[in-house]
Amino acid sequence: MRPAVVEVRRLGEHDLDAFARCVETGFAVRFTQAKGDELVAGLDRDRALGAFDGLELVGTLAGYEAELTVPGPLCTPVLSLAEIAVLPTHRRRGVLTSLLRHAFDAGHARGDRLCVLASSEGGIYGRFGFGVATTYQRYALDRSVASLVEPAGAAAHGRVVLLEPSLAAGALALVFDAARRARAGELGRPPAYFEELVSTASDAGGPVRFFAFYEEAGTLDGYAVYDVAPSVDPDLAYGPARRVAMLEECCTTSDASYSALFTYLVGLDLTSGLRTGDRPVDEPLRYMLADPRALRTTARGDGLWVRVLDVPGALEARRYGSDGRSVIELVDASCPWNAGCYAVEVARGVARVEPTRAAAELTLDAGALATCYLGGGSVTGLRTAGRAVEHVAGAAARLDALLAWRPEPFCSTA
Ligand SMILES: CC(C)(COP(=O)(O)OP(=O)(O)OC[C@H]1O[C@@H](n2cnc3c(N)ncnc32)[C@H](O)[C@@H]1OP(=O)(O)O)[C@@H](O)C(=O)NCCC(=O)NCCS
Repeated sequence: MRPAVVEVRRLGEHDLDAFARCVETGFAVRFTQAKGDELVAGLDRDRALGAFDGLELVGTLAGYEAELTVPGPLCTPVLSLAEIAVLPTHRRRGVLTSLLRHAFDAGHARGDRLCVLASSEGGIYGRFGFGVATTYQRYALDRSVASLVEPAGAAAHGRVVLLEPSLAAGALALVFDAARRARAGELGRPPAYFEELVSTASDAGGPVRFFAFYEEAGTLDGYAVYDVAPSVDPDLAYGPARRVAMLEECCTTSDASYSALFTYLVGLDLTSGLRTGDRPVDEPLRYMLADPRALRTTARGDGLWVRVLDVPGALEARRYGSDGRSVIELVDASCPWNAGCYAVEVARGVARVEPTRAAAELTLDAGALATCYLGGGSVTGLRTAGRAVEHVAGAAARLDALLAWRPEPFCSTA
């Protein structure tokens, strides 16, 4: 098929409806009028791009400034991409490639250090230097075998309280904002996110949604949003007669609130078990259970995809768990300004990163660096997979020691 000649440019006022239509067709969905209006109204016109075949808008990309928590933990601004779609009539002709090239160039010119997105499919973005920087797991807890171990520490002084949906949105936003700043991989959310979370609560006849908060000394330190629904779940032992709790989201700012909220969830009467949505891979709940097999991992997948746009800027924006030095060579076809050797010197957890003529001890590609950037991933594993090449024995393990971070990165918004 003849390659389409597309022009990529920012959107004019008259392109906005076509932008929404192109996203609809690209994702094969139909928006309500309100949803389409919301999408258009929320566009950042300095960052959104359209790909035009003549007068026709055939490809879309929305960009937003977002705040990402990086190891430290510290919050840093990033370019967040969304609404990436190409009309089915124009696919596999380089339209996405052109959109991303423009987005990367503009981000580089603006001084963006990092670009992030959540991907609809796993095979699209690796070739553009993105890497899977956070991973989620989903769990099923069988209450028939779930008993809790006696906590070693002092009992928590707080209590779990239930809030009505009308009161919950503001409290959810406050707790989330504190919690997301403490975990690498989390993104800031607009207040509308929580309005939507409470607006979907409890349609008559459907699952009932609850907003449980942990309160201690007059402060809300955590929440669990869960639905209780009729269960026809074959994975949970008591079967169709009982109901199942579905954990939509649990977000905590202290160990006491985590332990109190999960103790509450495990103890919910009239439920045969608990299923979770996307959760961190290092879920501490497993350590609360006398029988760890009561908690099964039912799914695992990629969360936030990261792309480094500015190597020194990105590596200096985060903190490190140990000190040391590494000289890396980065191979980066999609952002050629990044390609080359860098000396990474970490002292007291702070990195100084400079281009260097010194010989690299390790060569890796842009996606590999992005995979490890937030402290998950494994340089050693990437070496085994052929994505990183050691020129000095032990270089991968040394870089792992610098980059690794706990808790594991996780993004509850990807
Ligand atoms: C995914 C999508 C944006 C790709 O757009 P496109 O214009 O066809 O992509 P390009 O032609 O620039 O493709 C670039 C490369 O990626 C590959 N590629 C594109 N889409 C791919 C996919 N879904 N899976 C695997 N590889 C893919 C192409 O084969 C091409 O490879 P090559 O360089 O080896 O030839 C488009 O198919 C689409 O709109 N899909 C539906 C909506 C969607 O999933 N959007 C992504 C949201 S995160």
